[in-house]
Amino acid sequence: MSLLDQLGRPLRNLRVSVTDRCNFRCGYCMPLSTFPDESKFMAPSSLLSFDEIERLIRLFVDRLGARKIRITGGEPLVRPQLPRLIERLARIPGVDDLTLTTNGYLLADQARALADAGLTRLTISLDSLDADEFARMSGNTRKLERVLAGLDAAVAAGLTPLKLNCVVIRGQNEAAVVALARHFRNTPHVVRFIEYMDVGTQNAWNPREVVPATEILRNIAAHFPLVPLEPSYPGEVARRYRYADGAGELGIISSISDPFCGTCHRARLSADGRLLTCLFAADGLDLRAHLRAGARDDELARILEGTWRARRDRYSEERSSRAQPSGRRRLEMYQIGG
Ligand code: GTP
Ligand code: 5AD
Ligand code: SF4
Ligand code: SF4
Repeated sequence: MSLLDQLGRPLRNLRVSVTDRCNFRCGYCMPLSTFPDESKFMAPSSLLSFDEIERLIRLFVDRLGARKIRITGGEPLVRPQLPRLIERLARIPGVDDLTLTTNGYLLADQARALADAGLTRLTISLDSLDADEFARMSGNTRKLERVLAGLDAAVAAGLTPLKLNCVVIRGQNEAAVVALARHFRNTPHVVRFIEYMDVGTQNAWNPREVVPATEILRNIAAHFPLVPLEPSYPGEVARRYRYADGAGELGIISSISDPFCGTCHRARLSADGRLLTCLFAADGLDLRAHLRAGARDDELARILEGTWRARRDRYSEERSSRAQPSGRRRLEMYQIGG
């Protein structure tokens, strides 16, 4: 019998951030106007070591029932020696799926090592196929080509089918929707279009910039008719569609217009060892303090179980029904990895 939270949800997916740093400056996450500000990033000594990460993941798998591990950041590939961590995690019995979400910039160099280390598959963020638009959105210049080279390297290394994440923002990349759909039709890869979310405190989120899932779908279907598909596993974040002509599949992540908290089986571990039970959490349980105070596995497991059992988070479902105080404290997307 699995451990359930207050709303009857088991823990299945653990998202593990390995750094809060990133070589991009996406406006919806850590905009160039407020970054770089070195003081906002975690000190290297405050990051969990690979030993600490492995130890905690083993407990999440053995004692709480986690089955999917997703490595995130910031940008996970800027963490030195990441393939060594992947190698250790790939050996943990009970992990059915070991994957990673990256911006792809360092992937051309690392895809082979990651695949050899035992990574199962990969998600790459890709907001546009237009070089100028891509550069504007990632807060820098001339990076699209390198990301596409990273994508090719991931395919060559067998980390397929890929998933490609596109955050859709009104007035910024609406045209990218059909362009991405067209580009990845007739491939095994799956583009997922993500509604722009009010996560973190840096992006000056405005609901008018959200392009709702229905509009995204309508725009694609005007070119390529779509047929809805069943989720591929319980609690899947993206809603799946296939092209009616058999040219493959896409996904929509509608956390604003159609939230999915009821089946949220995700916990997040920040790079400095906080356990977060929601993407919109104000803070989390400081596991690093327990680790470094010498807690035994049994003690740690008891703490993890207690935190999950007490969980009541359903922020996205409450968003529309609650007046959000503007000063509400929140962790940043780059600290908890999406
Ligand atoms: P698969 O395992 O391939 O199905 O991927 P995934 O959807 O779990 O992971 P991915 O990192 O690609 O998630 C895509 C994006 O969906 C994230 O970056 C977030 O923007 C959003 N997302 C993921 N999980 C949650 C969640 O629990 N709540 C909300 N509100 N958004 C989420
Ligand atoms: N809204 C929606 N998605 C976001 N991401 C980062 N910030 C936001 C936001 N404000 C996505 C990135 C990446 C994943 C880690 O999170 O595009 O695919
Ligand atoms: Fe970096 Fe990802 Fe944030 Fe963009 S969304 S700045 S790639 S961590
Ligand atoms: Fe899960 Fe929180 Fe996202 Fe709802 S808002 S799906 S509870 S992470």
